[in-house]
Amino acid sequence: MKQSSGKGLISFAGGMPNNDLFPVKQIDKIYNSLSDDTKKLCFQYGPTTGYPPLIRSLQKMMLKKGLPAKTDKILVTTGSLQAISIITQEFVNEGDIILTENPCFVGALSVFETYRAKIIGIPIDEEGIDIDALRKVISTLKRPPKFLYITPNFHNPAGILYTEKRRRALLETLSGTDIILIEDDAYGDLYFDVNDKPLTRPLKSYHAYDVEIIYTGSFSKILGPGFRLGYMLSSPEIFEKAETIKQALDACTSNFMQILAQHFIDEGYLTPYLDFLRKEYSERKEILQRSLEEHLPDGIRWIEPKGGFYIWLRLPNELSASAIFKDCLEKGVVFVAGKTFDPENEEDHNLRLSFSNMPKKEIEKGVVLLSKVIKNHLKVSMLYDTNT
Ligand SMILES: Cc1ncc(COP(=O)(O)O)c(C=O)c1O
Repeated sequence: MKQSSGKGLISFAGGMPNNDLFPVKQIDKIYNSLSDDTKKLCFQYGPTTGYPPLIRSLQKMMLKKGLPAKTDKILVTTGSLQAISIITQEFVNEGDIILTENPCFVGALSVFETYRAKIIGIPIDEEGIDIDALRKVISTLKRPPKFLYITPNFHNPAGILYTEKRRRALLETLSGTDIILIEDDAYGDLYFDVNDKPLTRPLKSYHAYDVEIIYTGSFSKILGPGFRLGYMLSSPEIFEKAETIKQALDACTSNFMQILAQHFIDEGYLTPYLDFLRKEYSERKEILQRSLEEHLPDGIRWIEPKGGFYIWLRLPNELSASAIFKDCLEKGVVFVAGKTFDPENEEDHNLRLSFSNMPKKEIEKGVVLLSKVIKNHLKVSMLYDTNT
């Protein structure tokens, strides 16, 4: 994060929206149109579970996605990272096993590390988590893992979208195992092509499987991370304990932000804003994709994302992303080296490029600088190869 915002740097590092895209005018309008009583409510504490009108709006949105939002319960959280934290506090004691994807969202890894869990990363490919690897891990563990944490829609950092086949295979694998599935859907609304929308269907909406799923979502990528607004949907039993944990953490999430978000949804601002974001991010992805195709040397692989914020580059094995990062920093361009997302902090042949926070005109310039550094590293590695 620190290195993503240096002055004059072209940054592919930060996984956040661009400041120029925030709906500042819409939020001005919403706040100014609130009644005095509602404005006063903004400043007040609220129920631990969340502002009831926002919960009703979320419930409607979830039902449209096929989620069981009538039988299961919604807890509004201070960012979805807080939901991940609450769930971890609820289920994990020191030394307990948590399964994650490898690579995995670094914020979740930090939470799991804070609770001193033993994290086991399972590899992913372009279709989702590697089912054979997952089965093997589950069958060899002496103690069952507490949960598996995944991001099936527009993965951070890998950018992939799970196929339906892989979603079903995963649910079949977990059926009857007592392993809870944490489904993090922070990016699911950010598909680039509306025809892909059905592919983002949450696993929690597949009702035929015997798997306990906790679904988490966030307003950070569809409104602004400064709102610190997230939510989780879980069975009533899990919800009850989660509510007690949240009560002790921060009593309630900001009423101010919840009220603004609820009006943003209910007054019809969210739908056109999402269309706007999809177009903006899709354009940025296109420019990045074209620039990578044009400038990167052969041997670098990536999967073109269908949504979200990220392109994940796979370098040839002889190259180190950390070493490339150091040289790139000197040349004025930064990204996040793949190690950051590896639970073992070892894998050094990948790097994450985020296009969400990039002014469009800087993308190609950044790729040219990055490509030059990669080409230099390739040249050096070839020399080294022939000398040994
Ligand atoms: C996969 C994923 N989940 C959750 C979050 C955190 O979201 P929030 O800002 O709601 O805590 C992020 C933020 O980058 C993310 O990439």
